[in-house]
Amino acid sequence: MSVLRNASVLVTGGAGFIGSHLVDELLARHDVHAVRVLDNLVNGREENLEGIGRDERLVLFRADIRDEAALEAALEGVDVVFHLACLGVRHSLHDPSENHDVNAGGTLLVLERAREAAVSRFVHVSSSEVFGTAQYAPMDERHPTWPETVYGGSKLAGEAYARAFHRTYGMRTVVARPFNTYGPRSHFEGDSGEVIPRTIVRALCGLPPLVFGDGEQTRDFMHVADTAAGLAALGKCDAAVGQTVNLGSGSEVSINQLCDIVSRAVGADLEPIRMEPRPGDVRRLLVDPTLVRELTRFETKVPFSSGIADLVEWFRRRPETPQAMLARIEDRNWAPSTTVTAGAS
Ligand SMILES: NC(=O)c1ccc[n+]([C@@H]2O[C@H](COP(=O)([O-])OP(=O)(O)OC[C@H]3O[C@@H](n4cnc5c(N)ncnc54)[C@H](O)[C@@H]3O)[C@@H](O)[C@H]2O)c1
Repeated sequence: MSVLRNASVLVTGGAGFIGSHLVDELLARHDVHAVRVLDNLVNGREENLEGIGRDERLVLFRADIRDEAALEAALEGVDVVFHLACLGVRHSLHDPSENHDVNAGGTLLVLERAREAAVSRFVHVSSSEVFGTAQYAPMDERHPTWPETVYGGSKLAGEAYARAFHRTYGMRTVVARPFNTYGPRSHFEGDSGEVIPRTIVRALCGLPPLVFGDGEQTRDFMHVADTAAGLAALGKCDAAVGQTVNLGSGSEVSINQLCDIVSRAVGADLEPIRMEPRPGDVRRLLVDPTLVRELTRFETKVPFSSGIADLVEWFRRRPETPQAMLARIEDRNWAPSTTVTAGAS
C-alpha cells in the first residue's frame, strides 16, 4: 500500500510556490487523511492554499520552523513530512547568516523533531543549486557539489543532515533535488522574484527583459505541476529511501531563449537590456533524469512553451495590474534597497 494513502502529511513551506502545488497534488491524487502546512508566511501566502476552508483535511499552522513548540504541535500524529520551508538564493546574497539559520539549522531541527515523532517517511526538498555550475552535463546524482552561494551551501548541509539521519538512526529519509521550477504562484516580487515571472510581468508592461550577463547561462526548467507530482512520487517510493534524487526535465533553455519565448507568448518584440552578471549566478544546469525515472517511472507532462503560454495567461488574469506588479519588482533583487527599475518610464 502507498505510504501516502490515509497518511497524515506535514508540508513545511506549504504556503509557498512549490509547497502549495504539492498540497494540491496530495489532496487531489493521493488519498491522504490530512495535510498540515507549517509556514511562517514570510514568502508564502494563505491564498496559495486554495483548499483552506473548502477541504477539512487541510490545516495551516502559521509559525516558524524554528519555533519548537509549534513544530512539535504540527508534527503530532504525522506519518510523512515533506520539508520545503527555506529562504531563497537571492536572500542568501544579502543575509547569509539568516539564510543558513533557516535552511541548514532549521532543517536539522525539523529532522530531530520528526525523528522523535517517529514519522515513517521524510522527504527533504533540496535544490540543484547544491551543484554550482555544471562540470559536465547532463548532471546525474554523482555530479560534484560545489555550490556558488550560501543558499546552495545551506541546502547542501540540509541534504547531508537528511542522509545522516538515515545512516545514523535508520530514519526513512529521501533527498529530492528539484531543478528550476516555474508556473502559477511563482514569485515575481522582492528577493524571491524568479527570472520567468519577472520577465513576464515586464513584458506585460511592454518592457524588455533584463538579462544579467550574456544570457547564455542555461537552466533546466520544469513546470510546478510536474515538480509536485515528482515530489509525491518520490515520497511514496520505498526504493527511494536513503537516496538522493535529481528532479528536472532533462532539457536545457538559455536565458536568451527564454526571453524570446516569453516575448512571443506575450505577443511583443522586446530586445533584452544587458546588465552586469549577478554574483554567484550558475552558468549551466541540465539534469540527467535517469534515476527518478527508474525509481518512480516519473515523466514530465508539461512542455516548456505551453507552460509559459499558460503562465502568461495566469498573470493576465491576476487581480493586480501588470504595473502594480512591476512596482514590486526591483532590478537587482539580490540587493533590494539599492535598485531602480531599468526601462520603466
Ligand atoms: N523554485 C525553484 O525553482 C526551486 C528549485 C529547486 C529547489 N527548490 C526548493 O523548493 C522549496 C520550495 O521553494 P519555493 O520556490 O516554493 O519557495 P517559496 O519561498 O515559495 O517557499 C518557501 C516557503 O517557506 C516558508 N518559510 C521560509 N522560512 C520559513 C521559516 N523559518 N519557517 C516556516 N516557513 C518558512 C515561506 O514563507 C515560503 O512559503 C525550497 O526548499 C527550495 O529550496 C525550489
